[in-house]
Amino acid sequence: MKPPTRPDRNIALEMIRVTEAAAIAAARWVGRGDKMAADAAAVDAMRFVLGGIAMDGIVVIGEGEKDEAPMLYNGERIGNGRPPKVDVAVDPIDGTTLTAMGRNGAIAVIALSESGTMFNPGPCVYMKKVAVGARGRGAVDINASATDNLNELSKRLKKPVQELGVVILDRPRHDLLLEEVREAGARVLSISDGDVAGAIATGWPDSGADILFGIGGTPEGVIAAAALKGLGGEIQGVLHPRDDEERRVAEALGYDFNRVLFTDDLVASDNCYFSATAITDGDFLRGVRFYDFGATTQSLVVRSRSGTVRTIETFHRHNKLQEFSTTGF
Ligand code: FBP
Repeated sequence: MKPPTRPDRNIALEMIRVTEAAAIAAARWVGRGDKMAADAAAVDAMRFVLGGIAMDGIVVIGEGEKDEAPMLYNGERIGNGRPPKVDVAVDPIDGTTLTAMGRNGAIAVIALSESGTMFNPGPCVYMKKVAVGARGRGAVDINASATDNLNELSKRLKKPVQELGVVILDRPRHDLLLEEVREAGARVLSISDGDVAGAIATGWPDSGADILFGIGGTPEGVIAAAALKGLGGEIQGVLHPRDDEERRVAEALGYDFNRVLFTDDLVASDNCYFSATAITDGDFLRGVRFYDFGATTQSLVVRSRSGTVRTIETFHRHNKLQEFSTTGF
């Protein structure tokens, strides 16, 4: 008999503290109408906790370029410089407007993968995406029509198209897509923001979402890929330039607007990690709650290699939070 293998370090379990800190910091700004302040609080908290983690991380997806973003900027080295060497993608708030307006669906997220294995979005802001959960994997094709994808998914999931839940970002650019999906008879689950959570919902058994279609952020697509890898789902993307100038700049850098980016192109490593903590309530996690003793959070933590998926509820004591932080999260 093969001797049992002891579990190795699962750095995703340390990442929970990172997304918890960002979510608690952001949660104080829920509904206050100030998305910049919410984002700044989440970034500060995330960076503070990240700094203490034993890793040699490089931010592949961060808060923009160094000059515009003092912290967690693309290319920044984070962690204490010790192994493992990892690529890091952060989104301290996916859904800054959701947070500022007090709407459902905002999460704090981070994804890590072995060094050199994460797709760098460069100047490509948007990507056309299709995402499905484990049972739908292999049944969709981003180059096929939405109708064909819904028909294939319906066969695979053994339920009529009329019972499929389709997540689509509510944007004018999706008017034709929306019309086609409605024409096909599927149920549209419209979201005003937050397509990382939207993509993950397709991989979450009782969320009611079966597929996500549409054009959203490229960084968010990479982060969703890390989560879906662990959840056994799939995401496909095709870069979508905002204008000719963006296409020109990106093509000069080697980006291809016809290439289909599969899950493994977005995150090549099979050893990737993902943590999300809800800021406001969502399809699979409850948002931050404040109490006299402190706060509670719910997080989703995933490691692709083991395929272990954890939902973790944490009770945070005020005194601990303060001790833990110079930023007041
Ligand atoms: P922010 O939290 O940065 O505002 O992003 C929210 C989001 O809805 C993403 O989830 C999505 O990928 C992207 O914005 C869509 O971009 P746009 O709002 O420009 O259509």
